[in-house]
Amino acid sequence: MNILMVCLGNICRSPLAEGILKKKIEENNLDWSVDSAGTSSWHLGERPDRRSISTASKYGVDISGQRARQFVPADLDRFDLVLAMDSSNYGDMLQHAISKEQEGKIHLIMNFLNPGRNENVPDPYWDDNGFDKVFQMLDDACGRILEKGGGANS
Ligand code: 4NP
Repeated sequence: MNILMVCLGNICRSPLAEGILKKKIEENNLDWSVDSAGTSSWHLGERPDRRSISTASKYGVDISGQRARQFVPADLDRFDLVLAMDSSNYGDMLQHAISKEQEGKIHLIMNFLNPGRNENVPDPYWDDNGFDKVFQMLDDACGRILEKGGGANS
């Protein structure tokens, strides 16, 4: 299983999602890989936001080595699952899908936890207090992704 986490800047939410899922994969000795990307090019090459780094670190997850990159349409071939943090990221990526197979790889990450609810992971960029809630949401969703073996509809 090869999973891509996607948000807008690739500095707040998707780096947390990548770090959290990577840690769970290691703990479960699974042969899965995870990466993350942003739909925008605004923060290319940057480290994750310091608030994401410190929140992750509080829970034993090290994301300090990550660097931001932009989502490219070829990611829809390279990955088995492409998980959007919110409906805006979801819609942006869907526009690049050129087949039903590619479309079927794109999901809102929170639908793994609450199928069909189409819940967004809130953008914490302008809210210093939003990072803990985002971490907990992603930790719950990533736990369920592992339980479901990466299958979105099971
Ligand atoms: P992210 O958060 O999409 O979770 O990485 C954001 C990061 C940067 C900006 C917006 C959201 N920005 O406007 O630069």
